[in-house]
Amino acid sequence: MSKRVVTLAHYYTQPEIQQMADKVGDSLELSLFARESNADIIVFAGVRFMAETAKILNPQAEVILPDAGSTCSLVTQTDVAALQQWRESYPEHVHVSYINSSAAHKAISDWIVTSRNVDDIIAHLYEQGKQVIFSPDRNMGAYLNYQYGYNMPLWSAVCEVHDKFNEAALDEALSASATPAHLIAHPESPLPVLKRAEYVGSTSGMLNWVKAFAGAATDVIFVATEDGILYNMRLARPDLDIRQAPIYAGCQCNSCPYMKMNTIEAVKRAQQGIGTRIDYLSDAEMDAARLPIERMLEFSQ
Ligand code: 13P
Ligand code: SF4
Repeated sequence: MSKRVVTLAHYYTQPEIQQMADKVGDSLELSLFARESNADIIVFAGVRFMAETAKILNPQAEVILPDAGSTCSLVTQTDVAALQQWRESYPEHVHVSYINSSAAHKAISDWIVTSRNVDDIIAHLYEQGKQVIFSPDRNMGAYLNYQYGYNMPLWSAVCEVHDKFNEAALDEALSASATPAHLIAHPESPLPVLKRAEYVGSTSGMLNWVKAFAGAATDVIFVATEDGILYNMRLARPDLDIRQAPIYAGCQCNSCPYMKMNTIEAVKRAQQGIGTRIDYLSDAEMDAARLPIERMLEFSQ
């Protein structure tokens, strides 16, 4: 009997890859889809930590990453042994980790969050009187501390793509616009950029904001995130002037090199079973990493 293959694609992959997928989504949606899937093979057109999360949630499935190099700077900038020491220096704190982390990182976390549920989960923990440490994204943590008045100690890694946005280029673009201009941003962006945004939220959150936009069609909407999502935004609202936020004057070029390693050829090969198999995680590591992820999924459902 032939094997059932399902292809998942993150919103940051190129349009052609999204068109080849059975499901396109943000990291939370894709994790949930992977958990419920009864496919024999899950091709994950995203980055490695996403494919690992799919494997952890659905260990029976064979999970294939099209390109072995599809990592994420939040993962490569985090040395897990150093993180473990940092975590141990806050024995009374709850360790909340962003899903953009390795399986070993997740295994030493109490909760996993995505950009969609991070606000609610951390608010829930503070309501219970807990103290929280947050890793690995320094920008996201700084935004949460600023926005809600928390004092969370932060790990110090950044998304190399979002970290490039800067307030000077944005101010220039916003003030140069002949019609009213709006800024929406992903929380991996630096705090001065987020302070200027009308809306801060996950990839899906920004997409929903655009879909619901009720302003004039002549308004300009600047989007501070990876460029892949602009395809979905323009598809949903072809009537709007949606532009990528500049990272410097004249440049609209914020693209994640790791997401873009998912080429058509690599995804086609993966659909035939050729690619990087996520088969190197031990059962003990997957069990330890699954706990904080399941805690998040239960909270989010
Ligand atoms: P989302 O959780 O919004 O899908 O973001 C994932 C990511 O890698 C953002 O850079
Ligand atoms: Fe990682 Fe940034 Fe790429 Fe997202 S956009 S996968 S956070 S490097």
